[in-house]
Amino acid sequence: MKLILLGAPGSGKGTQAEFISRELSIPTISTGAIFREEMQKGTKIGLKVKEYIDAGMLVPDETVLEVIRERLAREDCKNGYILDGFPRTIHQAEALDRITDIDYVISLEVPDADIEKRLTGRRVCSKCGKTYHIKYDDTARSGICNECGGALTVREDDKPETVRARLDVYHKQSEPLKDYYRNKGKLKSVEGTGPVDEIRKLILEALSV
Ligand code: AP5
Repeated sequence: MKLILLGAPGSGKGTQAEFISRELSIPTISTGAIFREEMQKGTKIGLKVKEYIDAGMLVPDETVLEVIRERLAREDCKNGYILDGFPRTIHQAEALDRITDIDYVISLEVPDADIEKRLTGRRVCSKCGKTYHIKYDDTARSGICNECGGALTVREDDKPETVRARLDVYHKQSEPLKDYYRNKGKLKSVEGTGPVDEIRKLILEALSV
């Protein structure tokens, strides 16, 4: 199965992708995670994308497409994948259409006010990237990842002013993707507020698995 998870920053794409990936035994491809790894390693791509990510802006389409083409060509993608955070512009979606045919597009719907609370409370493991929230997870309050023992950190782009910029970018540049996929008969909207496992059930129902 080839699946796209659409949704505002902090709508829970990464959280839900982790479950669905295990359930369906397909990898999650997160362009944001790829860029953060490149930044951490200080590669050419990492240096190129840093100023955009830190400002809450989108990385230019050409760079994103170079990274995604290389990633989707790898062996682990042959039985399908979950795209988390890609595509984010109509241009990226059109380029993806030329690479492959997507089966489902799930859009997680969460009001902006909830997003700001979620992102300012998010903590991310500096070693394995697992995500927690200080309000909902004891682990987050302990400051240590319960999977690998890494230290939990705040993402640079989760500062309140950057979160507002990211939401603005989402509404202007990424939300039009809902109509793009609705017109192709592929869009399924899922209520993204409430307990994580309830949302997971709604997604699996929408995928008919
Ligand atoms: P990216 O890493 O993709 O960030 P994002 O889309 O902004 O999404 P997030 O990772 O912030 O949130 P999420 O939806 O995964 O939510 P999560 O599950 O963590 O991109 C970062 C940057 O890279 C972009 O700004 C851009 O610059 C660049 N970029 C990436 N892809 C690009 C592309 N294709 N084109 C151009 N630029 C690109 O959950 C958030 C928090 O909420 C967590 O703390 C979680 O524990 C909590 N939570 C989750 N579910 C619930 C729930 N049901 N109730 C309460 N809390 C919840």
